[in-house]
Amino acid sequence: EKGGWSSFMAKEISEQPDAVANTIRARIGDDGLVHVPELDGLDELFRGVSRVVIVACGTASYAGMVGKYAIEAWTRLPVEVALSHEFRYSDPVVDASTLVVSISQSGETMDTLMAVKYAAERGAKTLSICNTQGATIPRESDAVVYTHAGPEVAVASTKAFVAQVTALYLLGLHIANVRGSLTSEQITENAAELQAIPEKIGEVLAQHDEVAQLAHWMSDTRSVLFLGRNVGYPISLEGALKLKELAYIHAEGFAAGELKHGPIALIEPGQPVFVVVPSPRGSQTMHAKVVSNIQEIRARGARVIAIAEEGDVAVLPYADTVVRVPLAAPLFEPLLCVIPTQIFAMELASAKGLDVDQPRNLAKSVTVE
Ligand code: BG6
Repeated sequence: EKGGWSSFMAKEISEQPDAVANTIRARIGDDGLVHVPELDGLDELFRGVSRVVIVACGTASYAGMVGKYAIEAWTRLPVEVALSHEFRYSDPVVDASTLVVSISQSGETMDTLMAVKYAAERGAKTLSICNTQGATIPRESDAVVYTHAGPEVAVASTKAFVAQVTALYLLGLHIANVRGSLTSEQITENAAELQAIPEKIGEVLAQHDEVAQLAHWMSDTRSVLFLGRNVGYPISLEGALKLKELAYIHAEGFAAGELKHGPIALIEPGQPVFVVVPSPRGSQTMHAKVVSNIQEIRARGARVIAIAEEGDVAVLPYADTVVRVPLAAPLFEPLLCVIPTQIFAMELASAKGLDVDQPRNLAKSVTVE
């Protein structure tokens, strides 16, 4: 059922506007406020918690990292993101005032299931974000917010990721509503921004051929670095993961601020570096710092591929290639910036003749610890 697509992954990448729209559906009211019906009855819990711990593996953990920025910004609750297997065996600090949010496309990942069970034993409240109705992890959790990405067949996650990030935004706005940490106006503004995202993803998808061409030109590259800052940081990690999973080439994501603390030593002439450029409308300072990172690596011969919002001309003198994303509220930009990294990894793998749906050594759902 690939339809006319060359792979399930190509199909699933193209389905991302729907994955986001369907996950939002029925969770933003006519009044523009966010209300997730599955979370009815949990107001007291949300008012009483003092911290949130997100547990997940792989791509889902990067969705969690994006969610951390949004949930902290909107609820002012401290949010920690832990890899499920690290959390489970580290004697974590969890108690009845901790909300443990698990994220899993399959709902069957054993590492994450064990983390959820452990958290529950310690008295924590557990909430899962899951794409599979009735899976084990949601059944073991106190509450569930389903993502509605539809079945994801390709092993490497794409549409489930954007749906997970969307669900985390909704969770953050729902909790902010209950706790009164945002005004109604702030919630409706953010909700409207989120509702505008599916169409903007469509605009990024329309640049498929340009990104594909870049990937084909670079098909013999042996290493790719990714830099990002703030919400762009998890996107740099996710972009690198996709390239490892699909194209079997060394790829690493860094927080852009770390560049001078080590990774800059890796830069030699011709080294491809993707840079997720934060919007200057979010923080001019952060934007300027990332532009200066680009200058530094360019001066050492890096081949810079910038993912930047429309109208950001500051990157033009230094980037070899600029992939544009439409303007969005800065916290929501990951839903746009991740798309070119997915297309790049898929196309580079295709150019190498690899099976993008079934990469070697990987399984869609890992049901052993
Ligand atoms: C991995 C998959 O093994 O599990 C990844 O190959 C995925 O694509 C990770 O991100 C987590 O899976 P899930 O189902 O818990 O989201």
